[in-house]
Amino acid sequence: MISETAERKGQWEMAWKRWILQSARTWDDVAGIIQLINISEIDHDHMLFTQYALDLNLIIQALNNQEASFENLYKGDEIFQRLLDYAKIHFEHEKVIMEQMKSPLMKAHLEQHAIFMKMIEDHYKEFKQGRLHIVSGLKLSVLDWWVNHINGIDYQTFVVRNSHSGEEVHNE
Ligand SMILES: [Fe+2]
Ligand SMILES: [Fe+2]
Repeated sequence: MISETAERKGQWEMAWKRWILQSARTWDDVAGIIQLINISEIDHDHMLFTQYALDLNLIIQALNNQEASFENLYKGDEIFQRLLDYAKIHFEHEKVIMEQMKSPLMKAHLEQHAIFMKMIEDHYKEFKQGRLHIVSGLKLSVLDWWVNHINGIDYQTFVVRNSHSGEEVHNE
């Protein structure tokens, strides 16, 4: 019975987070479901990139609904470039900190970053080819991935730190 209740609670939380991600328009809408890392440079990056990912969702929505204007296409292109540039900058920030920390999670963490870069590049290619139906099907994927990454391996690497030993939790 207890596990059933816990399971239901878990499902409800997942549905709730999904709904927030689907309906969010600004950082304030999603800030509550994104973990703080307590390194100001990293938290700042997380906030900025989240806003770019939300901007991307809005523009994809607009383009899908009828507003395939030159202006919206141009904006979409600009957002993709900003996402790619900023992801690169942010991942470099995290890499430097992981090196300083000698993080045991570094290898796995950098692999995730590489997968994400490839995902954005692929979406951008599809966008440039006018394959909006594919991009729109993936509307949430950039934001979803990003939030899961922050709450998952970013949190483990920079806050929990020695998750391999499972003994200590640092919250500085
Ligand atoms: Fe991050
Ligand atoms: Fe990361």
